Amino acid sequence: MCGIIGYVGSHEAAPIIIDCLKKLEYRGYDSAGITILDEKIETHKTVGKIKELEQILPENLKGNIGIGHTRWATHGVPSTINSHPHNSGDISVVHNGIIENYLSIKEKLQQEGYNFLSDTDTEVIAHLMHSKLYGNVDSDEKICSFFDALQSTLQEVEGSYAITTVCGTEPDLMLAARKDSPLIMGLGESEYYAASDVTAFLNNTKDVVFVDDLNIVTIRPEGVEFFDIDGNVLEKEKTTIEWDIEAAEKAGYEHFMLKEINEQPRSVHDTFSGKLSELDGSVNLNELHLSNEEIRNIERIDIIACGTSLNAGLVGKYLFENLAGIHTDVDIGSEFRYSNPIMNEDILSIAITQSGETADTLAAIRSCRSYDCNTIAITNVVGSSITRDANSVLYTRAGPEIGVAATKTFTAQLTMLYILAIKFARAKGTMDINHAKDLLVNLKRIPGQIQKILNHRDEIRECAEMFAQEKDYFFVGRHLNYPIALEGALKLKEISYIHAEGFAGGELKHGPLALIEDGTPVVAIATKGHVYEKILSNIKEIKAREARVIAVANVDDTEIEKYVDWVLRVPATDELLSPLLSTVVLQLLAYYTALARGCSIDKPKNLAKSVTVE
Ligand code: F6R
Repeated sequence: MCGIIGYVGSHEAAPIIIDCLKKLEYRGYDSAGITILDEKIETHKTVGKIKELEQILPENLKGNIGIGHTRWATHGVPSTINSHPHNSGDISVVHNGIIENYLSIKEKLQQEGYNFLSDTDTEVIAHLMHSKLYGNVDSDEKICSFFDALQSTLQEVEGSYAITTVCGTEPDLMLAARKDSPLIMGLGESEYYAASDVTAFLNNTKDVVFVDDLNIVTIRPEGVEFFDIDGNVLEKEKTTIEWDIEAAEKAGYEHFMLKEINEQPRSVHDTFSGKLSELDGSVNLNELHLSNEEIRNIERIDIIACGTSLNAGLVGKYLFENLAGIHTDVDIGSEFRYSNPIMNEDILSIAITQSGETADTLAAIRSCRSYDCNTIAITNVVGSSITRDANSVLYTRAGPEIGVAATKTFTAQLTMLYILAIKFARAKGTMDINHAKDLLVNLKRIPGQIQKILNHRDEIRECAEMFAQEKDYFFVGRHLNYPIALEGALKLKEISYIHAEGFAGGELKHGPLALIEDGTPVVAIATKGHVYEKILSNIKEIKAREARVIAVANVDDTEIEKYVDWVLRVPATDELLSPLLSTVVLQLLAYYTALARGCSIDKPKNLAKSVTVE
């Protein structure tokens, strides 16, 4: 997730773009850049925040048209070279999204003589546009219009994009386009904005047009025009935004946590985007530096993580064992280095950390390297410390998470673990092609199914409010849903301050049942699967102690209603994938409980987003 901006108007563009980028900084803040168009293009970029960019801009940077970018790295570490805008000749582009087929386009353009400076997917857009506009790398004679060059480029790229772009030989024109990434036009008094988010320009205009997928926009000092991808003119309706700046930063949501919960269809999609081939049941993980032979030789996997990431790791254990037949241990980061672990070079360590900075996880993975283990890091932050300590780095693409409670980064971690487990299973031959194809097809359906849960959030809110004043809450699940019970309890306790614990259903009778009293709320994750009957038995044990049971169950499960007090529904999916859905229900349950109790949801007391001390 990055922030893009474009400005065309009668004022100096540079200070306006800087101001807009500061408003977009929450979308990404590892590097930033700007191009101003004034008969020719002039680009400045740097690692760091917008104030660092501001400091390097020359005072004589003049021009009324410009584009800017604040980056949250997805391809390539944060560096000046990798930051946007990316230029090819006199074309300058900023981009938010992911170009999935960038490698094949890059190879083709390199053969045509284009020299790539960065590791980004975006640079292919700039060079591809140049090759369309001028025919080849050395020419400066146009063979089509700037508009045609963009149009034809968009027809070739696959993936998601919001783009603003300018060309040195078109001094009065900026182009913008989108597919599956947000882009909003702001219409001021003789000035126009194109941005990832209304927050960028809300201080200057509240009149907006929401750009639709596969639209191209021409922005000139005289006005704005909208076209479809085939070049047909479109009529668009103007909307007036009622939000103030603070509400707009959260896209109108009351808290970042709720916004981030709602972003999960996109963050799960972005994490698997370009990696799944359901036609042959394979996954494409170029970033993984392990050959199939090395995968076959893995003796054991050791997953190391803390908190929510640890719960993702516990799901991972079931996946690696069930799909790939590899014995998997899960270790708490803070315990690992004091545990005299038995490690050797045939053991694969996987560190999971959304921030990439958790001191306990970093220390553990360093210790694994001292035993010559192969190491993989799964993280959401490109260039974070963990990326320097692992042999392979697998990035989740959840975008920045501002709320302290991990939500979208957790489901993105799960998504990456599914991909990795399928990769291992296919390499080891423990999963037949049809099973792999089915699982990939079902994985691709998950974003839509999460959206269905989000659409019914009012039912979860009603349930949360009903139990919001309870003192204790319990969560139970079995098999893959046991870690989800742990995660449900963690989410609830950290933001609502209610005492909450998660248990494996079968463990109840070994102690926890003593805590269950008349009226105690117990959430039972009871989605369909091979342990469904077992969790039903656990629910009956709990009901016999007069507790009140809230079941998370499938939409078509009519039986469950007989045994429980409340049912929260999730769509049916492959049993292995069900954690990706159940967990969203539990996030919303925690959120609405904390809301009803008036808690500080985005910044819970005593907690920090990134725990960089032991
Ligand atoms: C809970 C939460 C924490 C983190 C933990 C590890 O919502 O966010 O439990 O999961 O501090 O953080 P990372 O994943 O950054 O290593």
